[in-house]
Amino acid sequence: MAVGIFDSGLGGLTVLEAVRKRLPDVPFVYFADSAHAPYGVRDADDIYGLTTKAVERLFDAGCDLVILACNTASAAALRRMQESWVPRDKRVLGVFVPLIEALTERQWGDNSPPREVAVKHVALFATPATVASRAFQRELAFRAIGVDVEAQACGGVVDAIEEGDMILAEALVRSHVDALRRKMPHPEAAILGCTHYPLLQDVFQDALGADVSVYSQANLVADSLADYLERHPGMLGPGTQETFLTTGDPARVSSRATQFLRRQITFTAA
Ligand code: DGL
Repeated sequence: MAVGIFDSGLGGLTVLEAVRKRLPDVPFVYFADSAHAPYGVRDADDIYGLTTKAVERLFDAGCDLVILACNTASAAALRRMQESWVPRDKRVLGVFVPLIEALTERQWGDNSPPREVAVKHVALFATPATVASRAFQRELAFRAIGVDVEAQACGGVVDAIEEGDMILAEALVRSHVDALRRKMPHPEAAILGCTHYPLLQDVFQDALGADVSVYSQANLVADSLADYLERHPGMLGPGTQETFLTTGDPARVSSRATQFLRRQITFTAA
């Protein structure tokens, strides 16, 4: 009864931890495409090719449902995958919609027309590919009117996290927040639109100031997955074991993941 969790690297572990806590009886199979991270500097075709290959591997590992715990893949590849690639008996879901539903104060699956919401000035921090896709703005426009979104492409942050250089990652976050503030001096809310960024959530919050609400995806995705599985229990696949797969060097990826999650994580070669 396994569910697959995919990311280009370590960022999806922030989502994995939240879904494990929310659904302790479900075994999750995690796939980190570490050999090809970061995705955020790749073009849409490239991201589509890599993501479909990884998801195929998760199907083979006994997952009928796969969560793309990667905004870049969700933004650049998910729609194309759902329209023309995902087999009838499988599902692939992204991480954007639960976040936008929270921001726009909607219940899951509320498809009523767009309406005014409380938050008017939103800062979006994401990878260059996610920002270029404008997928966040598109999904938001389906649900809310009159929201001003200023997007900041946070070049370098994912690379620094994957390399374990948290000092560089922190410095980059502070400089990206400064750059955002030059364009939007007083955001009311900030979206961490990359699953790597919650690893630096305190730095974002500190740089933005206490009056800015910082939204990150892990718990929102966990709640929406729990809701989805309640409505579609048949989507739990035949897999039985928590597993960690990587296209990178398993020893190196295991050591970084263990450091981030503060529990022993052992990756094997995908
Ligand atoms: N965690 C991925 C995301 O949410 C990082 C993408 C990358 O590899 O650049 O966008």
